[in-house]
Amino acid sequence: MNSLSLKKIAAGVYTAKTGDKTDGVLSLVANEPKIEAINNNYSDAPLPFDGIFTEKVGNKTVVCIPRNLSERHYGPGLRFRSLATNFSVLHMRCDHYGGSDNGRTHVPTPFYLSDAGYGVFIDTPEFITFYMGGTVRTDAKNPPEEQNRGRGPWSADTPSEFVEASFEGDADVYVFAGESMLEAVAKFNLFCGGGARIPKWGLGFWHRTHTQFDENDVKNEIKLFEERNFDLDVIGLEPGWHSNSYPCSYEWDEQRFPDPKEFVSSLLKKDIRVNLWENLFVSKKAKIYEEIMPFCGSHKVWNGIVPDFTLEKAREIIANQHKKEHIDIGVSGYKIDECDGYDEWLFPDHTSFPSGRSAAAVRNTLGILAQKNIYNAFRKENKRTYGLVRASAAGSAMMPFCIYNDCYSFEQYLTGLASSSLTGCLWVPEVRDAQTPEEWVRRFQMCVFSPMLMLNAWANGVKPWKFKEVEDTVRETVRFRKSLLPYLYNAFYTYAEKGIPPFRAMCLDFSGTGSQKRSGLDHTESPYETLRLFDTYDQYMAGDSIMVCPMRPGEKTRKISLPAGEWYDWYTGEYAGSGEMLQIECPLEKIPLYVKGGAMIPTVEKDGSLTVRCYGNSGSGFLYDDDGESFDFENGKYAYCEMSFIKENGAVTGKIEKTRGDGFVSEYKAVRFI
Ligand code: GAL
Repeated sequence: MNSLSLKKIAAGVYTAKTGDKTDGVLSLVANEPKIEAINNNYSDAPLPFDGIFTEKVGNKTVVCIPRNLSERHYGPGLRFRSLATNFSVLHMRCDHYGGSDNGRTHVPTPFYLSDAGYGVFIDTPEFITFYMGGTVRTDAKNPPEEQNRGRGPWSADTPSEFVEASFEGDADVYVFAGESMLEAVAKFNLFCGGGARIPKWGLGFWHRTHTQFDENDVKNEIKLFEERNFDLDVIGLEPGWHSNSYPCSYEWDEQRFPDPKEFVSSLLKKDIRVNLWENLFVSKKAKIYEEIMPFCGSHKVWNGIVPDFTLEKAREIIANQHKKEHIDIGVSGYKIDECDGYDEWLFPDHTSFPSGRSAAAVRNTLGILAQKNIYNAFRKENKRTYGLVRASAAGSAMMPFCIYNDCYSFEQYLTGLASSSLTGCLWVPEVRDAQTPEEWVRRFQMCVFSPMLMLNAWANGVKPWKFKEVEDTVRETVRFRKSLLPYLYNAFYTYAEKGIPPFRAMCLDFSGTGSQKRSGLDHTESPYETLRLFDTYDQYMAGDSIMVCPMRPGEKTRKISLPAGEWYDWYTGEYAGSGEMLQIECPLEKIPLYVKGGAMIPTVEKDGSLTVRCYGNSGSGFLYDDDGESFDFENGKYAYCEMSFIKENGAVTGKIEKTRGDGFVSEYKAVRFI
């Protein structure tokens, strides 16, 4: 047993190595930690526990992290069925989610939270198993009482004073301590580079066309969208654009896309970006095949060779090809598919790679390193990108990519949204299909309050007007998303600068001892509500102030939990309640939305004017703006405006004033406060 002595590296951030030879994911991804942002935005906090230790057992390193028996844990990893993880045993490895939260997931980041206001991150690329507070050591100081099943109530749970984790090799252990779980997550995200700076167009409407489409099919599809007034921002091309996919050539199919440059620029003229699907397995038909071969592993996937993404040379070959063939002609980003598994679709665990790294390490970092490679390629051109990826790891907060999968359960997609905020990534509950018009609308609505509003018609060629009877509602839903652009852009600014996820599980904002202190809310008077919020996934926060309570298909009425504080109805502006459960009804055209008292929500009208919606009697807010597509904000080309309002006799008086940056507030024609 070795006690681990953690040293402070930023306000409330501590670290130690379990041995000399650490080779963590963060060092591979090489994002710059935003230490200053941690120190400037958050207060210091002491180590939340004493007595963390490690031991070597066989070829494994074990880390034992003390906990109080009453602590609640969330994570590690992206989950789809529940948020809290006490007593779980999680075998973390990058994989396509197979229906249970057992650790095999798209984002198996070894980072978990405690509602005592801290997070622990064990930085290793290897597979790692977590025992979330149910393992009782014989040398425990406070072992749980033995129970007797033959007498009275009995429980199989044996609460333990440790979370334990085991893995091969050594790791860097980090503790992110703060006043709340939210602060712990924010510090973790900032340490991983801060939240993604996504382009404005990324917050618009995405549509992925049928995989067999050629250039004319795509152009015709766009015409149809125009005729029906569905304002597109991004077209996604699926596997069929490649001359070969599964494995991939990364080259345009000459029959389908004879003049890719003309194709991409004709879309750009309409303000529509092109996003390209790819997987990471290289076809013999690819021009880069011979060049990349020496940097690939011993086993193929779908008969394609697998680049060792931990090697710079492999990444460079791909980045150069992508730049020349795609980025230079105006392609805006990628959907990096299939980098997650399943086992039978990936290389075996005994695959050898030229870097000498284990197959586990390559597998767990494939998605994040591919993202970083693409990010860097655009960064060099001073361009922001936004795309999709099916696997990620530590460092993903900074990556402008959303995770997605094929499970298509409404409920699980909703849970994914909440869970992503606990594990430092973005999740998109894309729309693909529906059994009923109602389901169709409800799915679009969930997407409006997510990092990406996307229809994915890759398999069925579906259009937004699939159900005539709700075509108008879907169109309005898309417009609603677009009107929220200034608010959502603010939320991503806060993600980048303060590490606060744009879409958040309720437990981040409203539960845990620390968060009560932070927000001035007191849950002690409403224990039922507190309990419910611990594992709530069916309502969540979007940006600073909006609480989203999606209606599920088939649901005419639902229960919502209003945390303590003042809440207002989005639509009527009327006071809705505080610290109580409500049974609500909501017509199909609306998403149940509640806004914090004092909030100012900037929205943009069709005519380009800015409307700031003000809730309660007085309050304040901000508006961040920049050019929306470059990194010029780093040189002061942005505007940060402070806003405030008071409401008297029903009339709102508002103020907006630029306080930082030498940029501009977009060409908003007029500003009004309501
Ligand atoms: C799936 C992916 C889909 C679609 C398809 C194309 O793996 O999740 O969204 O891209 O591949 O083959």
